Amino acid sequence: MPMSQEEAASTCSDIILNSLESAVLVFAECGTLSFANNAAEQLFDASINQLRGQSLDKILPLDSPVAALIRQALQTGFNVSEYGIALESPRISRQVINIQISALPEPAGSVSVNIFSRSIADKINQQMTHRNAARSVTAMAAILAHEVKNPLSGIRGAAQLLEQGAEAEDQKLTRLICDETDRICALVDRIEVFSDQRPLEREPINIHKVLERVKEVSKIGFARNVRINEDYDPSLPMVDGNGDQLVQVFLNLLKNAAEAVPEEGGQITITTSYQHGVRLAVPGMTSKMQLPLLITVTDNGAGVPDELMDHLFDAFVTSKLKGTGLGLALVAKMINDHSGVIEFDSVPGKTTFRVMLPKAGET
Ligand SMILES: Nc1ncnc2c1ncn2[C@@H]1O[C@H](COP(=O)(O)OP(=O)(O)O)[C@@H](O)[C@H]1O
Ligand SMILES: [Mg+2]
Repeated sequence: MPMSQEEAASTCSDIILNSLESAVLVFAECGTLSFANNAAEQLFDASINQLRGQSLDKILPLDSPVAALIRQALQTGFNVSEYGIALESPRISRQVINIQISALPEPAGSVSVNIFSRSIADKINQQMTHRNAARSVTAMAAILAHEVKNPLSGIRGAAQLLEQGAEAEDQKLTRLICDETDRICALVDRIEVFSDQRPLEREPINIHKVLERVKEVSKIGFARNVRINEDYDPSLPMVDGNGDQLVQVFLNLLKNAAEAVPEEGGQITITTSYQHGVRLAVPGMTSKMQLPLLITVTDNGAGVPDELMDHLFDAFVTSKLKGTGLGLALVAKMINDHSGVIEFDSVPGKTTFRVMLPKAGET
């Protein structure tokens, strides 16, 4: 018997849902499971036939934070997403996941639950390890400042003294010593930023002003030949942040984007928007941070090289001949200091960096 159109469509959406790496579950208004894709079957180590019709309490322990979120969404009908929460049950070994729960238009009162067990949750985990990476850079920066910069200034001074009495031919060499010591000093200066441990001075910041500044600076410099598109939400509330640091964050992101785009037809798109219900579990804090302000920087370049994907925010990771690999490490440190999150997605032709920040008055 040939398939009806409706059957064909539902097979097609099943195929799509089953191809996803993230687990998708649907709960009916009464709290029983009505659908689970392949990834969800794997995650919960049970077949759809075992899962279907089971109540939420049977699938997850009563005190599970994931179950609490699902219950909350079922009760309120609001979408929720949360980063970095623990999923654990007698059948699932403890893991950190990201979750997104959306109210479905039908059947009325039902919700879909999307669990990202690895990719994005990993990125967030990396965020946490950047803190450690930044810390090790911090210690190194302190050493460099003392053990390298001080002797360097001695070397430079000595070279300058020699230069005064030297022949023209030898002056070339003393100049070389000075120039190269200057170059090392400049590098140490850049690393020294990491050793700044003072608490961040924050105030309410209009992120659009920051982006405007960044765009101006880019346009007269590195992004001269790049088209910059903007898609801003004018009603965006203020960020709780440090203006200077936020300028540096977005300058770095724009500079990388400008360096990635093709010489002709290079485009960068900056967007701002407000997202409800995005929360981050912050280590050492019981409450969750709300991170409703989303700023994205997208470029149409060739994308992040595969081998760098997992370490992009580490210091000294670079694919550029004259790169320092400090830009994104610094960005990660600054966003961390803002209690924000940064993540990225990259395929050839489209690379997006997403920065999520808290609203002023909430930290
Ligand atoms: N928008 C982007 N598109 C492609 N690759 C990127 C992008 N942003 C960063 N990268 C990659 O990440 C690396 C690290 O960036 P960064 O920390 O700013 O250091 P640097 O720019 O000095 O190399 C870059 O060398 C590049 O390979
Ligand atoms: Mg850079």
